[in-house]
Amino acid sequence: MILCVGGTPAMQRTLCFESLEPGAVNRAYKVSVTASGKVVNVARAVTVLGGQALLATFLGGDPGRFVARELEARGVPHEVVWTEDDAPTRTCATLIPNDGPVTELVEEALPVSEGDIAALEEIVIEDLKEAQALCLIGSFPPGVPDDFYARLTKAAREASVPVLIDAQKAPLRAALEERPFLVKPNLEEVADTLNLPNGEPDVRDAVAGLTDAGARWAFVSTGASGSLLGDDSGGLWSVEPPRVDAINPIGSGDVMAAGLLLAFQRGSSVPDAAVYATACAAANTLTSTSGVIRPADVDALLPQVKLARLA
Ligand SMILES: Nc1ncnc2c1ncn2[C@@H]1O[C@H](COP(=O)(O)OP(=O)(O)OP(=O)(O)O)[C@@H](O)[C@H]1O
Ligand SMILES: [Mg+2]
Repeated sequence: MILCVGGTPAMQRTLCFESLEPGAVNRAYKVSVTASGKVVNVARAVTVLGGQALLATFLGGDPGRFVARELEARGVPHEVVWTEDDAPTRTCATLIPNDGPVTELVEEALPVSEGDIAALEEIVIEDLKEAQALCLIGSFPPGVPDDFYARLTKAAREASVPVLIDAQKAPLRAALEERPFLVKPNLEEVADTLNLPNGEPDVRDAVAGLTDAGARWAFVSTGASGSLLGDDSGGLWSVEPPRVDAINPIGSGDVMAAGLLLAFQRGSSVPDAAVYATACAAANTLTSTSGVIRPADVDALLPQVKLARLA
């Protein structure tokens, strides 16, 4: 089982427009409402790809109950901490015009209590006994201390469960000190986490910075232009994604995390898992809803991913 832990799920509205004009009345021709947020995206992708996921997160209010029903309907196993004050899970919106780039409207998550955090930590510690991998993904709601992922990384290391972290800034810096198996941020997030020089950060520096800081493996993505994988003994690989007509790239990184863990759990080496993950990420761009993939797209895209060893 791949245990997927994160604090910021969302109810997601995706609205499609012929075109979109700020300051004008824009009428959607299609609307869909799904469960999303990074932790939901990764657990759902693992499930859709035939793996065994277990999602652990906070939910509250009517949007939270919507997310729980969706997880039920999609067959995504979950253990929920219903927040003490039942504060509503955030609602986010994606606006997709036919003639331009996607716009994302993001609500911040509401605070959680110390009791909520302790309850989530208890669930994770218990479920680690059954887990073959732990995925820590996304930012924290207010109230969660910066060392939350670090504590869970330490617990997983002690239970010999490999950890993948997709986070940034202080939570990632703290977790790196606990020597996670794999970290998978995008380049901008690494620059913010490691204070890389301003301007266009160098992706090689980003990978080296993460392995120097404690990661065994670092996989740094840069959207359609691909990603770079490195390990702590100097190995370096580039992974070039297939060319696709992207509809909505949001959530590609989340689906990438799912593909990485799933392929690794099924016995692939990390570089081969990165290839599979890259096909999964590209498949995500082919649906309008963030973090939703069709397995047939993954199969079709897989032969087009290019892996090259650089060092
Ligand atoms: N337009 C695209 N075409 C093909 N592959 C893409 C495209 N956009 C993203 N990808 C794939 O998805 C991977 C992750 O994308 P990106 O670097 O945007 O992640 P991210 O910013 O973490 O995304 P998110 O956090 O929204 O899930 C890329 O390395 C690439 O393999
Ligand atoms: Mg990401």
